[in-house]
Amino acid sequence: MLRKKIVAGNWKMNNDIHETNGLIKDLLNESNSTNCQVMIAPSFISLQSSVTMLSDSKIEVVSQTMHHENNGAYTGEVSAKMLSSIGVKTTILGHSERREYFKETHDMLKLKVNKALENSMDIIFCFGEELKDRKSENHFSVISNQISESLFHLKKSDWTNIVLAYEPVWAIGTGETASSYQVQEMHNFIRTFVAKKYNTQLAESVSIIYGGSVKPGNAKEIFSMQDVDGGLIGGAALNSKDFFSIVNSF
Ligand code: PGA
Repeated sequence: MLRKKIVAGNWKMNNDIHETNGLIKDLLNESNSTNCQVMIAPSFISLQSSVTMLSDSKIEVVSQTMHHENNGAYTGEVSAKMLSSIGVKTTILGHSERREYFKETHDMLKLKVNKALENSMDIIFCFGEELKDRKSENHFSVISNQISESLFHLKKSDWTNIVLAYEPVWAIGTGETASSYQVQEMHNFIRTFVAKKYNTQLAESVSIIYGGSVKPGNAKEIFSMQDVDGGLIGGAALNSKDFFSIVNSF
């Protein structure tokens, strides 16, 4: 089964509209032919112009999060319906920063997943253990819980819209990457876990990407692992040369 290979840049709360336009121009200069699906996730205010600027390219514009209702009295929020209306077809959900700083729970993420699917959006669903979980050897149960609580209510057919992103919290923005052995071990665990709930064929078709201090220097090794189908890139996605060096690691 040929799984989709993906490298997605999560810009987080970086780049105003001018910086966004500049970085997109740089990305357009770097991107010729790539062996994977390339995505970028700029801030909400830059999504529409990014979609326009990238309309003739293969780079997809995705959102960093979304609300779990289509509209209503939720001051400051942005919905899947709104994102769809400007041509954004994919959203990241469950990033550890959303879980930590914005208190997104398993149940809340489940609602968001449902709403994204209702709007025919694809989802990059993030999860990952904290350092204390790994030290106490609880990392496999933490990951199983994050996946099952927010995703295991889904029908088999829903999984064509799901990409899983394993992002150990201790490796995000810290410069500390999980070793390729640790990444492969966890990705294999995740695939087996999904296979047990659904079936092997489904599990083999789901792309599982890794995030956490992926850089030009370590991308090739991580991406060469059997169950690693790409990366979710934070810091290194803010520089077009670094980002495309990672993209071209495939
Ligand atoms: P990082 O971030 O590459 O800066 O570690 C990854 C992420 O948060 O998705």
